[in-house]
Amino acid sequence: MLINLQHINKVYQQGDRQFHVLKDINLQIAQGEYVSIMGSSGAGKTTLIDVIGFLDRDFAGSYEFNGQPVRQMGENQAAALRNRHVGFVFQNFKLIPTLSIGENIELPLLYAGKRRKACRPLVEEALAAVGLAGSFRKFPNQLSGGQQQRVAIARAIVNQPDFIIADEPTGALDSATTKEIMAIFTRLHQQGKTLLIVTHDPKVGAQAERMVRVADGRVVDEGREG
Ligand SMILES: Nc1ncnc2c1ncn2[C@@H]1O[C@H](COP(=O)(O)OP(=O)(O)OP(=O)(O)O)[C@@H](O)[C@H]1O
Ligand SMILES: [Mg+2]
Repeated sequence: MLINLQHINKVYQQGDRQFHVLKDINLQIAQGEYVSIMGSSGAGKTTLIDVIGFLDRDFAGSYEFNGQPVRQMGENQAAALRNRHVGFVFQNFKLIPTLSIGENIELPLLYAGKRRKACRPLVEEALAAVGLAGSFRKFPNQLSGGQQQRVAIARAIVNQPDFIIADEPTGALDSATTKEIMAIFTRLHQQGKTLLIVTHDPKVGAQAERMVRVADGRVVDEGREG
């Protein structure tokens, strides 16, 4: 199993108040699956994917990634895991405005220790995969929102991660652009990527093979298609 969460609980402490935001989460995701995560605002979706993406390791319970226990790892090991195995896509793209498109996509490769010269063909390949070949030297503010999200997807896939986590990736896009972005995700799934997409949009959620519903910190439904 690629991702195996057993009895995950998370509590935020704020002063003398406690917020129990993940409640006994059990979730398994196999290599190559396409899963959407839905649920109302504040349900715990982002908290959950931060755990799954090794961003947050301050939880109780067991998370095994490819059989490796995640919570017990050192910070360096977790950072390496994040860099090698997961690509992130966000609602507001999170591109660095002072870097060119190509340089934005190059960053995870440089973090992974690649030399700049070796990066260029990989960046061009990722740009082509999202339909933006030839845009290396442009800057984020020269692109539309949909194009910026394509760049963010290119950045997420350039390191060839095992899985991609997208938190509300179409939340800032109109419906035509949403369709284009979803077509890219569908293609990535067909190419064997594991996808985890958080969304409020039922049409977006329905494109996944499996819909996980989160309510008040719990997984309340794990619907499978068909
Ligand atoms: N750093 C924090 N400290 C305290 N509480 C937090 C913190 N981060 C999140 N929470 C709380 O945890 C709960 C879950 O938040 P989370 O961001 O995971 O929700 P969400 O499902 O992603 O919502 P949305 O759809 O609005 O993005 C919320 O009640 C939120 O207020
Ligand atoms: Mg959220």
